[in-house]
Amino acid sequence: MSRSGLFVSFEGIDGSGKSTQARMLVDRLRAGGVDVIHTREPGGSPGAEEIRALVLQGDPDRWSAETEILLFTAARRDHLERTIRPALEAGKVVICDRFADSTRMYQGLSRGNLRAKVDALHDLMIGVEPDLTLLIDMDPETGLSRAKARNTVEERFEDFGASLQEAMRAGFLDLAKEYADRFRVIDGARDADSVAVDVWAAVTHHLT
Ligand code: ADP
Ligand code: TYD
Repeated sequence: MSRSGLFVSFEGIDGSGKSTQARMLVDRLRAGGVDVIHTREPGGSPGAEEIRALVLQGDPDRWSAETEILLFTAARRDHLERTIRPALEAGKVVICDRFADSTRMYQGLSRGNLRAKVDALHDLMIGVEPDLTLLIDMDPETGLSRAKARNTVEERFEDFGASLQEAMRAGFLDLAKEYADRFRVIDGARDADSVAVDVWAAVTHHLT
């Protein structure tokens, strides 16, 4: 795949401020005349948005972790084919709220260690990593209370509670070390404008 564009993902625990930061970054890039696609996972294409409803709504025990790996990867494949790859090939900047690192953490860690299965399926069916991954890091208690305050129907993973979020935070920080070349860790426990300054610095470094 020829990749003349720039692929940026946001990662972090629920409520860490990823969506807020992604929105602020997209607005600032667009204001500067950059051609940007703002997208998210699970979702980002019509088919993947249908899978989103299957995986995020309903009983926490609705799917096994293994079935979830398949569903999230199916959604990602469709998203990649129909939204991300065409945008990168057209030289656009793609800002994506979560990508494969979320599967490595949520499905790879939440119910036993399934990381090897996640990575094997990723290599087989996706094979693409972002150029830059911004990890918005914060303590899970604050993140969870922010996420709960939103009060949406998409609560399957938020219902897993504080201990899972704690494991996710540690896991994301480990992942940032494993993929140190593309990850930047940003302290999310500050006001949104201060966080955005660090996000902007990381992204402009890649644009110039
Ligand atoms: P995520 O996408 O990581 O789940 P959101 O961006 O949706 O997080 O933020 C979760 C909630 O916290 C939202 O209600 C949002 O308005 C609020 N929020 C986001 N960033 C901050 C911040 N830096 N300080 C305080 N509240 C924030
Ligand atoms: P998201 O809409 O980003 O939720 P939030 O704004 O609360 O962070 O993601 C929804 C949930 O889906 C979130 O709890 C993490 C989970 N998820 C996975 O479990 N695996 C995945 O591969 C992805 C992309 C998300």
